[in-house]
Amino acid sequence: MKGIREEIERVLIAPQEIAERVRLLGAEIARDYRSGAAKDPYGRPLLVVGILKGAIPFLADLIRAIDLPLEYDFMSVSSYRNGTSPGEVRILKDLDRSIAKRDVLIVEDIVDTGNTLDHILRLFRARSPASLRVCTLIDKPVRREVDVEVHYVGFTIPEDVFVVGYGLDYAELYRNLPFIGVLRREIYEEARVEDR
Ligand code: PRP
Repeated sequence: MKGIREEIERVLIAPQEIAERVRLLGAEIARDYRSGAAKDPYGRPLLVVGILKGAIPFLADLIRAIDLPLEYDFMSVSSYRNGTSPGEVRILKDLDRSIAKRDVLIVEDIVDTGNTLDHILRLFRARSPASLRVCTLIDKPVRREVDVEVHYVGFTIPEDVFVVGYGLDYAELYRNLPFIGVLRREIYEEARVEDR
C-alpha cells in the first residue's frame, strides 16, 4: 500500500506549529472560563462538544491543554453537501446528555461556508445552555456564506486551498496526517473525472 504523504502538494501548518497554537488556545480558554465566561448556575464543569469526525485529533489535543475541570461529548451531523440543501443538517448522533444551563464549547476542525456551524448553533441555542462558544482549528473566511460567531480560531487560511490532515479529510482519507497540508489538485480532479 502506498504512503499518503506523496499526495500532498505542500505542508501548510507543521506539527510543531499546530502543537504550539493548541497549547496557547487551551491556555486562553482556561483563562476565559476561570474569569467570567463560565455561566453555569450550578458551577458544573465546562462541556466540550466535538463535531464528528474531523474534530477528533484537535479535540484530543485541545482538552489536554485546558487546565480546567471539563467533560466532553460528541455530535455527528450529516453535511448539507451530501444531497441536502444548504442550511439543512441532519443529526446522525445526538449528545448523550442535556446541555440546559451548561457552559458549552463547540469544537470544530474547520469553518468553511459556516452552514454546518450555523445549524448546530441554532439547535444548541434552542436547548438553553448557560453559555455557548465555538473553537475551530481552521477558519476559511473566503468561503463564508453565513455569518457565524467563532470565539477561538487556531489558524485563518486566507486562500481557498483544499486542506487535509489532522482530522480534515478528502473522501474520508488523510485525517491521520500529523500536519495540515494542501492536497494535490490531481487527486480530487481525477476523482471528479471518475465520477462522470
Ligand atoms: C466539515 C467540518 C465542518 C464542516 C464545515 O465536516 O468538520 O463540520 O465540514 O463546513 P461548512 O462551514 O461549509 O459547513 P464534514 O461534513 O466534512 O464531516 P467530517 O467532520 O466527518 O469530515
